[in-house]
Amino acid sequence: MTAPKKRTAILISGRGSNMQSLVRAMAEPGFPAEPAVVVSNRPEALGLSWAESQGIPAIAIDHREFATRMAFEARLHQTLLEYGTELICNAGFMRLLTGGFVDRWKDRQLNIHPSLLPSFPGLHTHQRALEAGVMITGCTVHFVRLEMDSGPIIAQAAVPVVPGDTEDTLAARVLEAEHKLYPLALRLVASGAVRVENETLELTAGVEVPPPLYVPRLRDR
Ligand code: GRF
Repeated sequence: MTAPKKRTAILISGRGSNMQSLVRAMAEPGFPAEPAVVVSNRPEALGLSWAESQGIPAIAIDHREFATRMAFEARLHQTLLEYGTELICNAGFMRLLTGGFVDRWKDRQLNIHPSLLPSFPGLHTHQRALEAGVMITGCTVHFVRLEMDSGPIIAQAAVPVVPGDTEDTLAARVLEAEHKLYPLALRLVASGAVRVENETLELTAGVEVPPPLYVPRLRDR
């Protein structure tokens, strides 16, 4: 008997291209997760209409309508529960979350960041990578912790910086890798192939190792 698919909410704030890659992956037969709801803190987010067009509940919860972060998060939490959410994928979700929310979803909330963390957390990632002169950058999917862009790393992809790169060309190359990496990381988590031990990732025995460049830490038991 196959295990039930993990109901997965996707949090967005904008165009939602990572959301699209997750939704497409979840439509594949045998993928261990299914979309539960898409929530945006910005009603104008383009990703909302795309989600709706796919028949996925798409909900705007405008953070500006709430007096405090906690009030916003209480509504968000309630909405996630209403849709039976088991896992959350932050996909270009641009709100900092408080400890209360982060703790409630500990090891069940993923985020994608366009750098090889712990390098270049925060904003203007590609600009800072170019200024630092790195030759390899990439993207990271990690479990969410209180500190921005920190938490146990689930998967990373390496992406070269090439001569003449601008912020835009580099962002586009990294984004392509993001679209491959996020579904891979969600698959690992939703299938129960990984768990967190001492704030790093452990792979469960017998797990299929993902292709090179998308390499979760391998510490087999
Ligand atoms: C991605 O680069 C993601 O890593 C970062 O914000 C961007 C969101 O893009 N956190 P999209 O909305 O998924 O297209």
